[in-house]
Amino acid sequence: MPNIVIVGTQWGDEGKGKIVDLLSKDADIVIRFQGGNNAGHTLVVGGKQFISHLVPSGILQGKTCIIGNGMVVDPKVLINELDALRAMGIEVGFDNLKISEKAHIIMPYHKLIDLEREKKKGDNKIGTTGRGIGPAYEDKAARMGIRFSELIDSEVFIEKLKIVLDEKNFYLEHRFSAPTLDLNAIIEEYNIYAKRLASHVTNISVIIDNEIKSGKQVLLEGAQGTHLDIDHGTYPFVTSSNTVAGNACSGAGIGPKKISGILGIVKAYTTRVGEGPFPSELFDATGERIQEKGAEFGATTGRKRRCGWLDMVILKNAVRLNSLTGLVITKLDVLGGLKSLKICTGYECEGRIINDFPSDIKKLGLCKPVYESLPGWEENISGITQLAELPGNAKKYIKRIEELAETPAQIISVGPGRDETIMVNNPFNE
Ligand code: GDP
Ligand code: IMO
Ligand code: MG
Repeated sequence: MPNIVIVGTQWGDEGKGKIVDLLSKDADIVIRFQGGNNAGHTLVVGGKQFISHLVPSGILQGKTCIIGNGMVVDPKVLINELDALRAMGIEVGFDNLKISEKAHIIMPYHKLIDLEREKKKGDNKIGTTGRGIGPAYEDKAARMGIRFSELIDSEVFIEKLKIVLDEKNFYLEHRFSAPTLDLNAIIEEYNIYAKRLASHVTNISVIIDNEIKSGKQVLLEGAQGTHLDIDHGTYPFVTSSNTVAGNACSGAGIGPKKISGILGIVKAYTTRVGEGPFPSELFDATGERIQEKGAEFGATTGRKRRCGWLDMVILKNAVRLNSLTGLVITKLDVLGGLKSLKICTGYECEGRIINDFPSDIKKLGLCKPVYESLPGWEENISGITQLAELPGNAKKYIKRIEELAETPAQIISVGPGRDETIMVNNPFNE
């Protein structure tokens, strides 16, 4: 039975949420394996929009959703999301939402430190989402994080928090001259969260293993994108977790032999939110047009997304780093109406043409994109559901991406809704 990983190939916001929601129809279990509420995954069902930050995007298809051990979770945000789902008529209980007892908790000091650091960095800021993601992962690595199993055991929680808060308050006060946090206020607040979420907390690794053994199909939902990966992205302008497919296994507690397919979501052009290098970025009217037509605003922070041409250097990097078995090309409709399109096929760097993505951002900053031009199309393609019905030039664009990436396009997305999709080859039917 296929078990599929879905990852972003660029800098996030490729349309992972739409595709996970769509493919969840054929899956039994959907698992988020990294990141936290820095993610914003948009699902559009029956014309209504739901933005998921923490709950896996399989929730609207009625599937079992799992918050993996690799995630960092702000319990307040999770509870708000559960309330929003309830208001939409979706009750969430243990059956459809399980939380790993090993997932880490985002605490108030994580958010404060994230924001204070960004403030202090000034022009050198990373442009984080300010959700406390980096500081929470830091504490995990420093072995001073608080996990779900500890949150729901109030004795352990208080004991641990006392020690950690002492250090955090010292740091807040002496590094940033920021107000310190009150131990009892945190205990009171987090006790409420613990009570509300305790019934969801479990050993997800055992559950997933049993389900796979009984023939159930699993979908692993990545957040962010390959070039925001803590190791392989444009460091330090990255997030604080591994976003590549390899981390799907450790972040969900399953072994690599269980994975059968890895889909890379590719926006038909490139976007980025926050700071950091972006070689094919457009600063002209075409960039503005893509930004407007694509409604490119961050689903989490509402920031305007930077836009540029499709960059095959980064896509090829993603194909290799994730072992992609297929591509999902999204937002192809947004490119309609442009006379000609450009694809970045390499970089000119210090007098040489390079095709491999440089690891060093100083070198990346010196890179100029080398473009290949392709003819555009005028037609509105959003209603098209068959590949053969696409305008010839749209087909050529897809073909060229497949050739350069040496990877087949399995799904083409031509609008935000579930129906606005060309299913070339459903990975669950292989
Ligand atoms: P994610 O973080 O990768 O899940 O992506 P986001 O949800 O942050 O951003 C993608 C945006 O594009 C959302 O507003 C989606 O509703 C929208 N979207 C997804 N696929 C398509 C598509 O094929 N065409 C258009 N026009 N919009 C799309
Ligand atoms: P989804 O899952 C786009 C970016 C932030 C910032 C950097 C570090 O919706 O694709 P962080 O708060 O993680 O420490 O910020 O990473 N970033 C994203 N950009 N989509 C995301 O998630 C992102 N999550 C983080 O803008 O540049
Ligand atoms: Mg997003």
